[in-house]
Amino acid sequence: MTDSYFITGTDTGVGKTLVSCALLHAFAARGRKVIGMKPVAAGRENNKWMDVDLLMAASTVSAPSKLVNPYALIPPLAPHIAAARENIEIDLAVIQRSHAALQKNAELIIVEGTGGFLVPLNDKNDGADLARILNLPVILVVGLRLGCLNHALLTAQAIRASKLNLAGWVANAIDLPMPAQKENIKALEERLNCPLLGMIPFAKDMDLKNIAKLLDIQKLT
Ligand SMILES: Nc1ncnc2c1ncn2[C@@H]1O[C@H](COP(=O)(O)OP(=O)(O)OP(=O)(O)O)[C@@H](O)[C@H]1O
Ligand SMILES: [Mg+2]
Repeated sequence: MTDSYFITGTDTGVGKTLVSCALLHAFAARGRKVIGMKPVAAGRENNKWMDVDLLMAASTVSAPSKLVNPYALIPPLAPHIAAARENIEIDLAVIQRSHAALQKNAELIIVEGTGGFLVPLNDKNDGADLARILNLPVILVVGLRLGCLNHALLTAQAIRASKLNLAGWVANAIDLPMPAQKENIKALEERLNCPLLGMIPFAKDMDLKNIAKLLDIQKLT
């Protein structure tokens, strides 16, 4: 059986890729065959999609980039807008098939969402529909900054309203020390009703293997 987790965040740029890669390392350290997936990437830089490259580098098995990243959109825009600019419609069934194909070679897949949980993907579907069609437990990355309590609680509410399991959350210090960081983390521990897998400090050059050691994957529910 393949395990998969869907990684969402309180916003874009809050550390979903960093945490996804660290989780891949953490599971790999336990001997699992792991692979990352970024169903929809928007924003090409230097002819590549950074998240996809980072996830592939943190994976222990390889797969064609078309499966790892079925939708590679060039403009750095919200997915449905970027897709429209390229006359593409994001189709969740395509992503579902790619995920199923990856399951054949990996024991565990870390699926990184795009932006925040409810980001639209096409006229009808959003990130929640994607997590739901893949039927994955969700891990929430909270970018620690002013406003994150509201963003985290709203996201948790949306995850649970989608009837998905919020399997854990990660506190990620994306900025230099946030005032009252400890109190903010405590406030979320008291309210999110799922395990805090770890706290990642603000650290520009920390090795992913060391970040992985900060995440307690045994706490995943
Ligand atoms: N704890 C941290 N300390 C220092 N820098 C960090 C930390 N977490 C993330 N970053 C940096 O912040 C930037 C955004 O992180 P990341 O790309 O993981 O976010 P994301 O949520 O995946 O963004 P996107 O929505 O674009 O996929 C990256 O440059 C990353 O290296
Ligand atoms: Mg990312």
